[in-house]
Order: sequence, then structure tokens, then C-alpha cells
Amino acid sequence: MKIFLDTASLTEIQEASALGVVDGITTNPSLLAREAGDPETILREICRLIDGPISAEVVATDAPGMIEEGRHWASLHPNIVVKCPCTLEGLKATRALSSEGHRVNMTLIFSPTQALLAAKAGARFVSPFVGRLDDIATPGMELVRDILQIFDNYDFDCEVLAASLRHPMHVVEAAKMGAHIGTMPYAVFNGLLKHPLTDIGLKKFLDDWEKARKEMATKAAR
Ligand code: G3P
Repeated sequence: MKIFLDTASLTEIQEASALGVVDGITTNPSLLAREAGDPETILREICRLIDGPISAEVVATDAPGMIEEGRHWASLHPNIVVKCPCTLEGLKATRALSSEGHRVNMTLIFSPTQALLAAKAGARFVSPFVGRLDDIATPGMELVRDILQIFDNYDFDCEVLAASLRHPMHVVEAAKMGAHIGTMPYAVFNGLLKHPLTDIGLKKFLDDWEKARKEMATKAAR
């Protein structure tokens, strides 16, 4: 499964990029609004830090406006993927932008039928929001499973990008299901590596090593 970070924080992206395991970035208007600075400059900088798909979302709600904004985002860097919301106008914009050769990530997907329409409109990525469904007592992961099953029956050039992942178990479940991509906040990404038994085990290895080294030094001094 490809790992994307769901953030517009350059500090977080810089930290994570050093590890070489981040395959792309998803941003949205809420995430960009949290950062100081011009969104365009931030997106250009993100493209410099990570060599992979970088989602930039349109904020227009009518198709012509989305198309214009999408073209603009796409002109910033070849790695930019235009994010369109899964609405009627978003579908029209997705068809138009994908016909022009721009990659579209259709976002705010909450049903398998939305994902099917997005793929048919030419979206290269669909983003089912797992956590937000869980928030309303609806199993978000089942949506990911349904979309994967539907896409498996056909030949869409469209990847399932499990989004709104809130904790490492969401990441585990998405990967077990075969989601192509999981996007997650930096805190969740960090949680993928940490394990107390690793820390305890490492401490014991180093303590034993140090003890043996001291014993050898004492013997040699006799
Ligand atoms: O990628 C979608 C994500 O930004 C939404 O996450 O946690 O706000 O539901 P969340």
C-alpha cells in the first residue's frame, strides 16, 4: 500500500520525507487554511519535497469554476493531482479535467455508487472518508472494501485512496483489504513505527552489550 501524508505542514512533510517511505501528499482547504503562507507557495514547496502525487483541492462549487481552478493547480507542477468533491458539478469537472489529461482525485466519497461514478468520469483516485463514516456509527472500512470489490470487477484506471484514517488500526485494515493508498495525518504515520517492546528490547540489547564490554575491560586490566 502506498503511504500518503494528509497534511499541508512543510515541517511534517520535511520530517517524513527524510525516511523515504512517503509516496505522496493529500491536502484540502482545511489543511491549507491551518498553515501560514500562500497556498500556492506551500504546494510548490510540497512538490519540491515529495516526488509523488500531491493533491490540491478546488474550492469552486460549479463545474466551470472547478475546471479553471483545476487547470491552475495542475499548471503549478506535473505531480499535482486536482481534487474535486463528489458532486454533480464535481463529476462534470472531473470528466473535463481528465479528458484534458489532468489527474483527478475525487474526494468526499461516502458511498460505493459515488466511487463508481467517479471512476467512470475518469478520476484517477477516489477518496472514501473512513473516519467520518465511523463518526456517524457507519463502518467506514466497509466502504473501502465495497469499492475495491467493484473496481476489481472492471478495468478502471482508478486507485482507491483510503482517507480520513484516524489511527494505525485503520491503516492496518486498509492494507489488509488491499487499498492502493492510505493517507493519514503525521501523528498516525508516526504511530505506525512505535512499539514499546522495540524500545524495551533495544534497551536490553544495549545494556547487555555495555555490561559485557565492562567485564571484558576489567578482565583485561587484571
Ligand atoms: O483526507 C481526508 C481527510 O483530510 C479528512 O480527515 O480526519 O478530517 O475526517 P478527517
